Amino acid sequence: MGTVGDTATGDRCRRVLFFPLPYQGHINPMFQLAGLLHARGFAVTVFHAQFNAPDASRHPAYDFVPVPGDSMPGDSPDVVQATLEHILAVNRACEAPFRERLAALLEQQRAREDVACLVADAHLLTLLDVARGLRVPTLALRTGSAACFRWFTAFPMLCDKGYLPAQESQLDTPVIELPPYGVGDLPSTSSAAAHAQLREVISRAVAAVTTSSGLILNTFDALETDELASLRRDLAVPVFDVGPLHKLSPAASSSLLRQDRGCLDWLDAQAPASVLYVSFGSLASMSASDLKETAWSIANSGHPFLWVLRPGLVRGAPPSQQQPPLPDGFHATTHGRGMVVRWAPQEEVLAHPAVGGFWTHCGWNSTLESVCAGVPMLCRPCFGDQKGNARYVYHAWRIGLTLDGELERGKVEAAISALMGAGETGAELRRRALEFKSSAAESIGEAGSSCLNVDKLVNHIQSLQL
Ligand code: UDX
Repeated sequence: MGTVGDTATGDRCRRVLFFPLPYQGHINPMFQLAGLLHARGFAVTVFHAQFNAPDASRHPAYDFVPVPGDSMPGDSPDVVQATLEHILAVNRACEAPFRERLAALLEQQRAREDVACLVADAHLLTLLDVARGLRVPTLALRTGSAACFRWFTAFPMLCDKGYLPAQESQLDTPVIELPPYGVGDLPSTSSAAAHAQLREVISRAVAAVTTSSGLILNTFDALETDELASLRRDLAVPVFDVGPLHKLSPAASSSLLRQDRGCLDWLDAQAPASVLYVSFGSLASMSASDLKETAWSIANSGHPFLWVLRPGLVRGAPPSQQQPPLPDGFHATTHGRGMVVRWAPQEEVLAHPAVGGFWTHCGWNSTLESVCAGVPMLCRPCFGDQKGNARYVYHAWRIGLTLDGELERGKVEAAISALMGAGETGAELRRRALEFKSSAAESIGEAGSSCLNVDKLVNHIQSLQL
């Protein structure tokens, strides 16, 4: 891989602008992409909302432009609806201040010469439109899987054919046009209003991609061969699958919460592949009774564990609560066998040899990080793309098990034993997970698919003109 903008010989260094959606699962891949392009010689400017603002001091080589005016997420108990509303609100509120700040940046003549494009999250259609209105070329980053974006593009068809909005009685029906999905893997909404909002957010994300100069995806060809081929067939814009980004990028951590690195020392003292890592990402939540079942299934499984219990994990808890309280007797029962932290350095945890299984909500970043580390998963998806990601993990790739229905400790203990134990099921999952780990490594190796796509992306960006 070469670099662009040979400043030593006086060539100008081109600048790429970034605008992430202000959520952890979207910020991480955007910063990883920024790190990757910066390492290839591009200067980086990050525009960002005030909500979940990144810590500029961790990225001294980048310029940061705060864009005021965004709103806070709503307090709807329906996390899907609250997130959809917030995505639309961020677009609305940032539109005018972003236009002003981008125009000011372009005003500086040298900057105008330097700016190559804006890379924005595909959920920020309004901001991509603003950039194009100022003649800045745009690229859209989708932070989910290729399969997920494929069903985004198929959303009108799914509604026309009656798959959506999903009816309770249809959840097991296969979506024959989009295997391996079943109706229950598609996002469910609680009301007609929420469905209309989902439709709007998805059609805007598709428009963001089709009106841009390219789509960037955090995935790799060997993982989603058919899905990527289908997107390339159906979309009129170039598709760059450049994942796994966290493995390609030298970016500093963009974690919004402080990561407890002490757990890495604790992992050092554990036997290889013995620890169950439990984390449900940054947004998923659970009821107090599910927390209890989770705690006792972990305790009763007898396996060493590392559990991320982040503030806000339990629905209805007061916002001031630092960490959800665990059931009486949990610490005494598990004493010396596990560690509970508020937030972990997850990529390093999953890559640690002591970790043998991951109980996850199947957010796309978590799924990809687990695939790259060769760690089999226990899937407990909550909302959005997570059910579809889980379907791929346990059904298509067969590197995990799923936990359906009521969370009940006996059932979970059995699943943990199957995942972590020496039996046939666990052995087969581990074998397949290691195969995927190898194909992820190959994709970013010299002449690997993602490595070649990074070169193509760099050339594409270099060819873009204001
Ligand atoms: C959200 C949605 O839930 C997810 O389905 C979608 O694909 C992306 O947006 P999130 O819930 O945060 O994301 O999950 P995920 O995509 O897995 O991202 C979480 C990120 O936080 C990962 O990069 C993970 O490494 C990091 N993390 C998680 C930590 O750094 N520490 C932790 O303790 C837990």
